[in-house]
Amino acid sequence: LPWVIGVKTPAEIEKMRASGALARKVLDLAGRAVKPGVTTNELDEIVHQASLEAGAYPSPLNYHGFPKSCCTSVNEVICHGIPDDRTLQLGEIINIDITCYLDGFHGDCSEMFVVGDVSDCPPSSRDLIQTTYDCWLQSMEFVAPGRDYKDIGAIIEDYVTPRGFTTVKNFCGHGIGRVFHTNPNIYHYRNNEPNGQMAPGHTFTIEPMICEGTNKGLLWPDEWTVTTQDGKRTAQFEHTLLVTPDGVEALTGKLESSPLQFWEKESEVHKGV
Ligand code: MF3
Ligand code: CO
Ligand code: CO
Repeated sequence: LPWVIGVKTPAEIEKMRASGALARKVLDLAGRAVKPGVTTNELDEIVHQASLEAGAYPSPLNYHGFPKSCCTSVNEVICHGIPDDRTLQLGEIINIDITCYLDGFHGDCSEMFVVGDVSDCPPSSRDLIQTTYDCWLQSMEFVAPGRDYKDIGAIIEDYVTPRGFTTVKNFCGHGIGRVFHTNPNIYHYRNNEPNGQMAPGHTFTIEPMICEGTNKGLLWPDEWTVTTQDGKRTAQFEHTLLVTPDGVEALTGKLESSPLQFWEKESEVHKGV
């Protein structure tokens, strides 16, 4: 029954923890390589090799024909950017989206990176990334047994709208586990879809895409890359989450070794945590 949301057993949750932690490690590795002059193909190569070395498969590769092992979405690319030979330029912003398939389970996460230092990044992009990060944290704090999945969207929309940003409607978060994308759908805007209630053992993603200008996307002829219609910048973060008896666990959460970004230090929502 498609409207029934699968509950993972403790053994399955352990495997989700492992695939989530691996996706995080690979994301950190790729993020450390972001520098002016580096191509997104070089990032893809790092992701591909690190996944295989860990005994995992990079889930995006050949997923509905996707040609690479991760998505690299630069500046105005909303999502599903295909790694290529273009070099990253000082002051650009990039989302790297990593999914690892390890021991039968997928772990999916993404994060923003600035090419160069904070000071190289235009203030408007800093504000965009900070707002995207903060709305995402706020929405994750809502996660607990008994809450409605549909209510995640309004939290995100209500956070970004007064700050002058828009939230993309054409892509959503998703249930995840043995299957990359499954029910429930997680909308990042106010909605009234009957998408069920959270319960311990559910695993799903929240991955809002927030825009400086229009939230309308333009699909490129490569049939994957989606940019904003006005060419303004957009940002995204993603975690794979587990609903626990008393709240939420980020299965792709940061590790002791993970670098801390400026928006994490300056977050209004999680002050310095
Ligand atoms: N990782 C993306 C998500 O968050 C999906 C990428 S599908 C691909 O759901 F084919 F583009 F890789
Ligand atoms: Co996802
Ligand atoms: Co993803």
